[in-house]
Amino acid sequence: MILVTGATGTVGRALVDQLVEAGARVRAVSRRPAEAGLPAGVEVVGADLGDPVAVAGAMQGIERVFLLSSGPEIPEHDGILAKAAATAGVTRLVKLSSGRTGDDAATDPIPTWHRAGEQAVEASGVPWTIVRPLGFMSNALHWAGSIRDHDTVYAAFGQGRIAVVDPRDIAAVAAVALLGEGHDGRTYTLSGSQPLSPGEQTEILAEVLGRPLHYVEVSPEQARSAILDHGVPAELADAIMALRATALESFTSVVYPTVQDVTGSAPRTFAQWAADHAAAFGQALPGRTSPVS
Ligand SMILES: NC(=O)c1ccc[n+]([C@@H]2O[C@H](COP(=O)([O-])OP(=O)(O)OC[C@H]3O[C@@H](n4cnc5c(N)ncnc54)[C@H](OP(=O)(O)O)[C@@H]3O)[C@@H](O)[C@H]2O)c1
Repeated sequence: MILVTGATGTVGRALVDQLVEAGARVRAVSRRPAEAGLPAGVEVVGADLGDPVAVAGAMQGIERVFLLSSGPEIPEHDGILAKAAATAGVTRLVKLSSGRTGDDAATDPIPTWHRAGEQAVEASGVPWTIVRPLGFMSNALHWAGSIRDHDTVYAAFGQGRIAVVDPRDIAAVAAVALLGEGHDGRTYTLSGSQPLSPGEQTEILAEVLGRPLHYVEVSPEQARSAILDHGVPAELADAIMALRATALESFTSVVYPTVQDVTGSAPRTFAQWAADHAAAFGQALPGRTSPVS
């Protein structure tokens, strides 16, 4: 039985689907199990990763664990998960980390949190694999509202490029690490096949959606306000902005062969991701005029 944390989120949900398809038995963790909406046959348990008793309960009878935690609680939650996994006799732990963690010069919050989480996993004594993706293609869904409303992408750091990766490819690497052999003690940095700036992503989205889109560079302050408007706490908003600023560095535009090497399949392109999520960006309304030309 494989325990999947973060199972209702972007990567975890894709992983659950792939594990079920591979015939694995899956137990999923959610704080709201009744609303998890996971495939039939998946056992869903209610647990908060900050609750050691609930996590220990979820770990009973588990052989392998996918560990996904988020935000400032990453060090604490990874510590709780790693300890519970060791106590329960788990034989394999796969942690979702962040590509930036591998940049020794990175001292901003998100790689710092994940570095502490990785250390907890590595100290647990349970055989581990660390998966460190660069930026997710699905971050483009943050632009869905302004694209639907007026065909415009607002984003900061327009000169920066990130070799964005499809969450389904991240899940595929995690699935191989959970189900296959030879991945213990390995750290996999993942990217897509092409570094893209926000303007270049906008062009690809326009092509896929079949209508013109505009890219408007906003200041980091405006981008931060937009994150806060979505209800994100200030500490996390600052951490996200610090991470986004690193798109201006060369680290984020490195293309890694890892998805192909581990899964045997080439990583999906941003155009493929966009085509599969086109509905989220809406259809052009005839006669509508854009406020930005
Ligand atoms: N976005 C990027 O570009 C990027 C790049 C590299 C790495 N990452 C890393 O990816 C991770 C986020 O992955 P994601 O985008 O797939 O997540 P997500 O879509 O934001 O979903 C978060 C998941 O975590 C669960 N969760 C949150 N707090 C919880 C808690 N206290 N107890 C139990 N479950 C909890 C949620 O489950 P319920 O709500 O059902 O409880 C949900 O399934 C973070 O570690 C981030 O640093 C992101």
